[in-house]
This record gives sequence, structure tokens and C-alpha cells, in this order.
Amino acid sequence: MPLEPIRVVVTGAAGQIAYSLLYQLAKGDVFGPDQPLYLHLLDIPVMMGVLEGVVMELMDCALPLLLGVVPTADPAEGFKDIDAAFLVGAMPRKEGMERKDLLAANVKIFKVQGQALDQHAKKTVKVLVVGNPANTNALICSKYAPSIPRENFSAMTRLDQNRAQAQLAARFGVGIDNVRNVIIWGNHSSTQYPDARFAVVTKDGGESRVADSAADAAWLQDQFISTVQKRGAAVIAARKMSSAMSAAKAACDHMRDWWLGTTGDKYVSMGVISDGSYNTPKDIIFSFPVLVKDKQWTIVQGLELDAFSVQKLQQTGQELNEEKEEALAVCQD
Ligand code: NAI
Repeated sequence: MPLEPIRVVVTGAAGQIAYSLLYQLAKGDVFGPDQPLYLHLLDIPVMMGVLEGVVMELMDCALPLLLGVVPTADPAEGFKDIDAAFLVGAMPRKEGMERKDLLAANVKIFKVQGQALDQHAKKTVKVLVVGNPANTNALICSKYAPSIPRENFSAMTRLDQNRAQAQLAARFGVGIDNVRNVIIWGNHSSTQYPDARFAVVTKDGGESRVADSAADAAWLQDQFISTVQKRGAAVIAARKMSSAMSAAKAACDHMRDWWLGTTGDKYVSMGVISDGSYNTPKDIIFSFPVLVKDKQWTIVQGLELDAFSVQKLQQTGQELNEEKEEALAVCQD
């Protein structure tokens, strides 16, 4: 029997991440090769002309799964009956802008979009926040959508996970699929903790834990972490524009695993509402290793944290608490 069509919204649809993302969504990379869909494209009024061009290109891609496209600047129309949301649209940091100002501008966008999701989207909607500060934006969005379960909101740290996995694959001289279970803890910011202590590499028919190799210990705590943390800045320096292709791919990976489930004991990192696991602050969106079944994620439990990791988790948790306080103050204005 053919699958019922679903409705998927992408905000910031005229921007550069969306330009890579939309094609992958419309050709079945995320929801499966048999899942027909409507795409809702939300952006701000001044971008409607550009968006028209994107709509033309989607049409010209001639993709059989794409049943229709709804370009709009109206959140009510954008979020109507939505099954899955990619919240990419946000204000970029302008010259001279403080981090605080950026946070203030962006959390207000996510307050409005939370309210619109609450009123117009399906209650089962899965919301992935990509726009920065992604974790705190996701928290605010969820707060203003009280009729939708908090578990349905997540923030993207998958790009960081993919970057970490790629660094390990290169270091050990294996293909990307031969590295699993690297973790990104905490905030999608410079305090994130890329943790390879539980990562497993398959090589020459055998499996080994990355952490078991003493030769790699110093590299893991030093170069590996800083390369992953600073990868976004390195791309900007080289390309003069921020990561877009890899961000779009990561958004697809994140939503696909949420929608279709993870495989076996292979976990992935998602920013989700914290229940206090691993002594993290509760009620912030914190990136944890998760497994997904039937569209529900669960935090992987029982991983042992050493003193270095405890300190890293504390640091990023504290930053998220501070962002939360700032965001709540802005939203109450
Ligand atoms: P971009 O500037 O090319 O596109 C952003 C789009 O959002 C623009 O078309 C803009 O008009 C739109 N927009 C602004 N306010 C909006 C609103 N209220 N409603 C709907 N649309 C709105 O930016 P790009 O490169 O596509 O990046 C988007 C966001 O993703 C940025 O915040 C960036 O920092 C973030 N990002 C997050 C990553 C992550 O790993 N979580 C990785 C890479 C980027």
C-alpha cells in the first residue's frame, strides 16, 4: 500500500544550508525512498523572490516523491499540519555583534516559531533545530509549544559527530563506516566535548577501542578535540562562507535516524531535553549519545566518565544554563 504523504517544513529555505538540504529531502534520503511529501518553505518577506527561484529549481529536479511545494513568509501557513520540521532559519552574526545580541535576536525567532508549531503543526511533529544557538533555540521553541511533547524537540550536533568520525577515520586509515560511537556532549558551541573514549574502529577484520591505544591518548585529548571544535571556523576561513553542504547532510542524518531508527548498538548524538543523566543540569537541551526506536530516543546510560570528561560536561552544561537564563529573560521582555 502506498504511504500517506507527509508535510515537512524547512525554515531559512532561501539560505545556503536549505539549498543543499531540500534536494536530499525531496529525493527520499531522509524519510525513505517510498515516502511522498509536501515541502513547506518558510523564509522572511524580503527573501520571497529568491525563494521563488528555489521553488523553480525543485520543480525542475523532477522528483517523483515531491507532491507539492508551499513557499511562504507566514509561519501559520509554514507550520500547518507539519510532520517534521527543520528549523534552519536564523539571523547570522553581523560584524560587531556580540554573542549576547545574536542570542537575543535568534531566540525571539524561535519563540514565535514555537507558538506557530503549537497552534498549527501535528502534535507528533519532530522538530530539529539547526539555527544557532541551536540548543537554546530548541529549548525556547519547545517552551512556547507546550501542547507538543518536549521529547519532540532536538538540536543538531550531528555535524560535530560527523566531523569527529571523519577525523578518526582519517587517523586510523579506515572508511567512515568503520568508526562508530564517537560522542558529542553538550552545546553546539566551542564548549562541546567530542569524546572518542568509547569509539570503536573496525580494521583488518578486528574491532578495537580508540581509547585503548596509548599512542593516541594525547592526540585524542588535544588535537582531536580542538580540530572538531574549530572545524566550522576553519571552513569559514577557507571558503569565506560557513559550512552548508556538510550541515545539510548532517541535518538529514539526524532526522533520518530519528524517523527510521538507529541500528543495533550504534548510537548517535542529538541535543535533547536533559533528564539530569550524567549529572548534567536538567531542563536544558544537551547533546547526549542516544539510541532511537519507534521514533523515540533514549539516552545511552552507564558510560563511565573520567575526571577530564566530568569537567568537560560541567563546563558545557554551565554554558547552556547561562544561555537559558539569558534567553528566558529576552523572551519575557
Ligand atoms: P543563511 O544566512 O544562508 O540562511 C539563513 C536563512 O534564514 C536566510 O534565508 C534568512 O532570510 C532566513 N531567516 C532569517 N530569519 C528567519 C525567520 N524568522 N523565519 C524564517 N527564515 C528566516 O544561513 P545558513 O548558512 O543557511 O545557516 C543557517 C543557520 O544554521 C545559522 O544560524 C547557522 O549558524 C546555523 N548552523 C548550524 C549548524 C549546526 O551544526 N547546528 C551548522 C551550520 C550552520
